[in-house]
Amino acid sequence: MYTQLEQRGMSEPPVNVSTLRKMKDEGEPIACLTAYDASFAVLVDAAGVDLVLVGDSLGMVIQGHDTTVPVTVNDIVYHSRAVARGLRRAFLVADMPFMSYANPDQALENSVRMMQEGGAMMIKLEGGEGQIEIVEHLARHDIPVCAHLGLKPQSVHKIGGFRVQGREADKAKDMQRTAKKLQDAGADIVLLECVPSELGQSIRDVLDVPVIGIGAGPDVDGQILVLYDILDITQGKTPRFVKNFQVGHSSPLDAIRSYVTAVKDRSYPAPEHCFS
Ligand code: KIV
Repeated sequence: MYTQLEQRGMSEPPVNVSTLRKMKDEGEPIACLTAYDASFAVLVDAAGVDLVLVGDSLGMVIQGHDTTVPVTVNDIVYHSRAVARGLRRAFLVADMPFMSYANPDQALENSVRMMQEGGAMMIKLEGGEGQIEIVEHLARHDIPVCAHLGLKPQSVHKIGGFRVQGREADKAKDMQRTAKKLQDAGADIVLLECVPSELGQSIRDVLDVPVIGIGAGPDVDGQILVLYDILDITQGKTPRFVKNFQVGHSSPLDAIRSYVTAVKDRSYPAPEHCFS
């Protein structure tokens, strides 16, 4: 019975939380990307991406909104279900959209939808001190959780723009403390967005669970980017941490493969993609 999940007729078994933990322990960088549909999910999986996130960034790159705030649970469930059909090896994480986890019971109800209807293996939520009780509640019900710290795009109207977080010593200390509390509450992964490299490294060093960075420097356990950014589909000004991997490649599959290689050999992120 269990062999179905472990093999799915593949040479390499599907990635699970233990695989990700082992990669951290053995120092193998975890290559992560977003995806929003089955066709790209097939390519991302074939390229060797370890973890795929159906991010609420879909509000911006798929739906054309200026922020992730308008995205709904139904939107994520729809796209997650499509992505799940395209994946064989990669681990699937679904984002909890704005106000879908305002209290523990609502968080549990919506996480169950992500897993049962969306086929997700883990949910991601933008966390802080206020979400510790929610993470505990989900962990108690065996819902795997990725806690997102640093720049939290769902808070853009509260923060007043998309900007680097944790530059001040007291804010950096607070973030490190919160990351540890979220891990202790049951988070299985911590994702850090737009923080100085030094802070990324210090949080990676104090946590046992994998720390995945987007604009968090080279010294974290894995990297994640938005698929449309690395394929040069996103027009206009992109954040400093974005690298266009389509350059020099004639197909999206080759571009995604070169992203995976660059994460694995640590040539991405380079200093020009990092914050100090
Ligand atoms: O929604 C998303 O795509 C994300 C990534 C930027 C990490 O949260």
